[in-house]
Amino acid sequence: MLELNLVYQSVAFLLLTSSTSLVQSICNRGCDLALGSYYTRYQTDIVSIARYINTDVNNILKYNPNTVLSQDSLRLFVRISVPFSCECINGEYLGHVFNYNLTFGDTYPKIADMWYANLTTEDWIQMINIYDPSQLPDMSSINVTVNCSCGDGSVSKDYGLFITYPLRPGETLESISSEANLSSELIQSYNPDVKFSQGSGLIYIPGRG
Ligand SMILES: *[C@@H]1O[C@H](CO)[C@@H](O)[C@H](O)[C@H]1NC(C)=O
Ligand SMILES: *[C@@H]1O[C@H](CO)[C@@H](O)[C@H](O)[C@H]1NC(C)=O
Ligand SMILES: *[C@@H]1O[C@H](CO)[C@@H](O)[C@H](O)[C@H]1NC(C)=O
Ligand SMILES: *[C@@H]1O[C@H](CO)[C@@H](O)[C@H](O)[C@H]1NC(C)=O
Ligand SMILES: *[C@@H]1O[C@H](CO)[C@@H](O)[C@H](O)[C@H]1NC(C)=O
Repeated sequence: MLELNLVYQSVAFLLLTSSTSLVQSICNRGCDLALGSYYTRYQTDIVSIARYINTDVNNILKYNPNTVLSQDSLRLFVRISVPFSCECINGEYLGHVFNYNLTFGDTYPKIADMWYANLTTEDWIQMINIYDPSQLPDMSSINVTVNCSCGDGSVSKDYGLFITYPLRPGETLESISSEANLSSELIQSYNPDVKFSQGSGLIYIPGRG
């Protein structure tokens, strides 16, 4: 009886695993650390950025030893690195879901551009939140997803840390690769279908941990 039960259970298990594997899974695990490239386009400060990223100020300072010298000295129009964990969400994509507390006057496009520096988009925020974009409640929180990467073994196994990098107008593959001190070929191979001068959209750049 017991043995039969075991046989039954393993058959059920096999059926279950084979049927779920029919659903194409894009990712099966994430990685502990990814970085976001946060362009300080608008007047803001490290305390606020840390709050958007759900981390503490020291964690932001740690990843920006050369660009942010202290909590009170954030320059405008520079890129800083913000750390977060990169998770496999529903087996479908790699991302991190931040908790953002709405304040008066917020809209999805404003949150994406101003508070998350285009690390996400209006559409991508709207996709996973229940609120009607024209009626955001003041005293509530939303989920903000930022996509990320953990690398690609078929490109190279040398890089395990990736920066989610929103392209800006005026940038080119050459400007990005010289800034990152990496070869254009390497960056291109991680972003095969991207037009680097398109001025918007995300790319993933290998980082040095
Ligand atoms: C959002 O507000 C709640 C309740 O006031 C607070 O506990 C939480 O820390 C806030 N989260 C962020 C990311 O500021
Ligand atoms: C976000 O993208 C918009 C449209 O391309 C641009 O005007 C804005 O400066 C960008 N914001 C940041 C923080 O880079
Ligand atoms: C994030 O990834 C998902 C799934 O690949 C994609 O549909 C979405 O457009 C991406 N979001 C951004 C802001 O690039
Ligand atoms: C944020 O995500 C949580 C967990 O998936 C969900 O319960 C909640 O309804 C989401 N918030 C909004 C505003 O959609
Ligand atoms: C750029 O990378 C090369 C090796 O790939 C290294 O020798 C050089 O010091 C780096 N330059 C800077 C400015 O980091």
